[in-house]
Amino acid sequence: MRIEHHIDLQPFNTFGFSSIAERLVHVGSPEDVVEYFTSNQPAPSLVLGGGSNLLLTRDLPGTTLKVELPGIELVEEDTDHVYVKVGAGEVWHDFVLHAISQGWAGVENLSLIPGNVGAAPMQNIGAYGVEIKDVFHQLEAFVTDDKSYESFNLADCAFGYRESVFKRGLKHKAIITSVTFKLNKRPSFNTSYGAINQQLEAMGIQNLSIKAVSDAVISIRQSKLPDPKKIGNSGSFFKNPVVEQLHFEQLQDRYAGIVGYPAGEGKVKVAAGWLIENAGFKGKRIGNYGVHAKQALVLVNYGGAAGKDLFQLSEEIISTVNEMYEITLEREVNVI
Ligand code: EPU
Repeated sequence: MRIEHHIDLQPFNTFGFSSIAERLVHVGSPEDVVEYFTSNQPAPSLVLGGGSNLLLTRDLPGTTLKVELPGIELVEEDTDHVYVKVGAGEVWHDFVLHAISQGWAGVENLSLIPGNVGAAPMQNIGAYGVEIKDVFHQLEAFVTDDKSYESFNLADCAFGYRESVFKRGLKHKAIITSVTFKLNKRPSFNTSYGAINQQLEAMGIQNLSIKAVSDAVISIRQSKLPDPKKIGNSGSFFKNPVVEQLHFEQLQDRYAGIVGYPAGEGKVKVAAGWLIENAGFKGKRIGNYGVHAKQALVLVNYGGAAGKDLFQLSEEIISTVNEMYEITLEREVNVI
């Protein structure tokens, strides 16, 4: 356990917003977590992973806990699968690249998602037709109320669209320390998401491989999502809202071209990017922050902006979208 005082979290969040943490505690092992929570320390104001889904709007009094547990370990294997235990502090994309180099399939569609492994289950990260729940086996978390480690299987995590029990009932009450994935020795490719096939074709791929699918996903992401190392962002800022079919049909009458996908049970998942673009926000820049020019669902910090200003812009987007379409956008990012 390493403790620092008055540390700017600017390098530790992908938006790159400045926020002074009064006390930053780095936890590097499962034992560190136990030590912290059993030594009469105050409850942390924030548990920080890769900071990729975080909007910091203020300084942080008290303790910020930075989870830095390392390790990628093959723990079990059968004819068709490998079970791979990954420390919460590993960078998600490094784990994906490791899996690809070992020939383990299942996470290639999730290439290049910013953030750390420990945060991935919190919001059931997903992209290009795959969500973490599809490759999840179990995870270990320290439950602060019980002051003990517990294992969570797929059902325990209650995964939904960008949702899990860790964002609901166990919010601020569980420190995820490792995640075990069930990966396939024999790939079953998921290229159902239209743009992947187009990209594979453009790349002249004849024989499909997990590396080829990963390369295609990386190309697509790089073509429309800003690289957080160059322009601060947190990927999709809002969730795609789910509305009743009738509501969607009424919107189709008013707004030709509105994009939505069947979401089951007579509901439609609407492309929030379309709603925001059609409301005139795409590419809008206010000083050093704004809405990305290639993907309206992504808000950006061009450098030096304040989190509270970007939050204000998100409020403006929510209220305009609400007025235009009677849809209330929900933020995907965690606002502090
Ligand atoms: N669209 C627009 N204008 C825009 C952006 C999108 O009209 O500025 C419309 C287009 O019609 C497009 C459709 O929206 O076809 C969907 O856009 P896209 O394929 O870019 O996906 P998305 O729904 O905007 C979701 C995830 C992304 C994930 C992609 C690919 C959410 C909130 N976002 O975005 O996840 O990478 O699908 O699977 O579900 C993230 O969560 O941080 C993230 C990047």
